[in-house]
Amino acid sequence: MNAGASPAVVRELHDDILVVTINNPPVNALGTSVRRGLLEALETAEATPRVRAVLLLGAGRDFLGGADIREFGQPPQPPALPDVCNRIEACAKPVLAAIHGAALGGGLEVALAAHYRIALASARLGLPEVLLGLLPGAGGTQRTPRLIGAAAALDLMLGGRHVGAAEALELGLVDRVAAGDVAQDEGLAYVRELLAQGAPVRRTRDAGALADRPAQQAAIDAARESIARKPTGLFSPGRIVEAVQAALDLPFDAGLARERQVFIECLDSPQRAGLVHAFFAERATAKAPEMGTARPRPVHAVGVVGGGTMGAGIAVALLDAGLPVTMVERDEAALARGRANVTKVYDGLVAKGRMTAAQRDAVLARWHGSTAFEALAEVDLVIEAVFEELDVKLAVFAQLERVCKPGAVLATNTSYLDVDRIAAATRRPADIIGLHFFSPAHVMKLLEIVVPAQVAPDVVATAFELARRLRKTPVRAGVCDGFIGNRMLAVYRQAADHMMEDGASPYQIDRAIRAFGYPIGPYEMADLAGGDIGWATRKRKAATRDPAARYVQIADRLCERGWFGQKTGRGFYRYPDGARQGVPDPEVEAIIDAERQRAGVTPRTFSDDEIVRRYLAAMINEGANVVDQGIALRPLDVDVTLLHGYGFPRHRGGPMKYADMVGLPQVLADIQRYAEDDPLFWRPSPLLLRLVERGANFDSLNQPGANHA
Ligand code: 3HC
Ligand code: NAI
Repeated sequence: MNAGASPAVVRELHDDILVVTINNPPVNALGTSVRRGLLEALETAEATPRVRAVLLLGAGRDFLGGADIREFGQPPQPPALPDVCNRIEACAKPVLAAIHGAALGGGLEVALAAHYRIALASARLGLPEVLLGLLPGAGGTQRTPRLIGAAAALDLMLGGRHVGAAEALELGLVDRVAAGDVAQDEGLAYVRELLAQGAPVRRTRDAGALADRPAQQAAIDAARESIARKPTGLFSPGRIVEAVQAALDLPFDAGLARERQVFIECLDSPQRAGLVHAFFAERATAKAPEMGTARPRPVHAVGVVGGGTMGAGIAVALLDAGLPVTMVERDEAALARGRANVTKVYDGLVAKGRMTAAQRDAVLARWHGSTAFEALAEVDLVIEAVFEELDVKLAVFAQLERVCKPGAVLATNTSYLDVDRIAAATRRPADIIGLHFFSPAHVMKLLEIVVPAQVAPDVVATAFELARRLRKTPVRAGVCDGFIGNRMLAVYRQAADHMMEDGASPYQIDRAIRAFGYPIGPYEMADLAGGDIGWATRKRKAATRDPAARYVQIADRLCERGWFGQKTGRGFYRYPDGARQGVPDPEVEAIIDAERQRAGVTPRTFSDDEIVRRYLAAMINEGANVVDQGIALRPLDVDVTLLHGYGFPRHRGGPMKYADMVGLPQVLADIQRYAEDDPLFWRPSPLLLRLVERGANFDSLNQPGANHA
């Protein structure tokens, strides 16, 4: 039955049922060969009198992971996925999809085009196209509302979340949740049952969930209003609503045509390019070169030194991953605070009903505290999160070296300090690595894995494996002041400070950066993080600062007044009565004016566009330096760092992808123009210069084996 079939789609006759198995590892994406194979299978089913029904299955871990994302932006190859779905639906013999693992995007659309659906209890279904800047473009916007109503369909398509089998059954996405756990057996049994009942071909295009027009229109209007109320700058959500409106207003085929039109608009949008770049980039950073060659060391128990902001958050991240955690603090009072910091997180979850008290207690039973380093004798990995002072850290590592068993991985969460120096001060430099979490550590996805010169490859592999267990997005970084993210932040924040002193208000800068897509502007962020931390760093670095370099003192003036931001009720903004949303502060504007006068600056106006261009140019230029100096492996590592740790808008792909989309010659021309006024700050990165000269872009360095020279 298989002769002539594409190997990506295997056909097998089971009595009078044609079992069609899609086999395109790793996730059965619906690439050209799969689409062709599916069409052939449908033709075979109809042409073979003996075949009475078709069962669609996915081989491996998932049913179907969706359209092949790698094909987006390439010339389309027939048959198109919507045509394949239409062919499935048109089949004169019953077609059943048996879903296991993931049925996502185009994968779910294939299932929706089938006449019946059964899912294993562990299956996950969803229409996550919106997360890639797209919409379901293989009939999903037309079939889903007809099957489950506009409200539920919009919820799935606008949020992109995955639903489990039980919820899918409740929604009406599937007809049955299987009792067993083998999709083929469950599917065959269901098909036989349907055949025995004489169950008819039942096409989703004819389903009636849109019948109650006013209620459906109300759901669409509600979605439209919700998008207008909370503008995200995203293009595809509005198009999704339009497509669902078409499902309500137009006959099925006309609705499909409308869907196609808006799908192509999304496909051609820069947002789609940015979001797809982010999807592949975060998968690329998760693969350390060492993972292929070195086996991660086993990690069964972990120690955390310090129970402050970061130590507690890291402990929660570890506990959430099911690991036992031993926290060491300097005295009983600090330990009690550390425990309270951890407990507070879980109490919050209990209060919100996201966890029961018994579940909280079970998690906290895996937390142990001590004031003695000896408690870490048996752990496999330790993460140090004590004060950001080299001497304090060196003393902690001396203790760790004394008590920890041979082979234990010893990690530091330092933000800036020299991990090579910490490693060199111990007798176990091969075991030492940086694990730079972001605050709050149990929430933020980014984990910079800072790789010092002497570290053993299996320690690097262990760090990446730990990131996987913690569901973090790891990025490999080299040792330098601030690694990838904080080093870049220091530079683009300076660019913002220069603009502030030159005439832009912090409020305009925040507004412009938010309009670009950031959730929060740099000065709102400074107020949130607390001005005191940066102030302490600036004071520490004052002695080594280049006296010729421009230094804006506005933030220092605020800190001298004790205005550290939200926590003190004032910073760049005022926070009356503990408000979380700040209001502009005329006194701050007066301080800025005074600083301009002191610095001899005649203020000028900035357009929002110039603010964004300068901010981004500083970020991109330092990103290029970070790549050029080998601190980041590739430009995409910079992108993932900024996306997951610093709020860079995902639909723009990250600063380096954004630079490619703007065009590197334009970015360089901006920098060269800004350099006319401040050549010390605006020094074009050698990498940027080389790429422009070669007519190349950053993405050319993302390819395996790319050469920076
Ligand atoms: N197309 C091409 N490659 C894909 C893919 C897809 N749809 N989905 C995953 N991959 C690749 C990944 O890039 C990765 O490749 P790599 O090994 O070279 O890095 C590999 O498959 C494994 O992926 P994950 O590491 O993500 O594996 P997991 O097991 O953790 O997750 C998954 C599997 C849940 C399917 C997850 O990969 C996923 O969410 N994929 C995207 C699903 C999606 O967005 N589908 C919609 C696509 S758009 C669409 O269908 C348009 C249609 O409406 C017309
Ligand atoms: P914190 O001040 O909140 O906590 C530090 C904790 O370390 C305190 O509880 C202190 O009692 C404890 N400690 C100090 N010396 C100790 C010792 N010898 N033995 C055991 N415990 C000791 O500081 P925070 O913010 O948690 O920072 C910790 C580290 O994490 C620093 O290196 C910092 O640079 C880094 N970091 C901080 C981030 C942040 O946003 N706060 C983000 C990422 C990294």
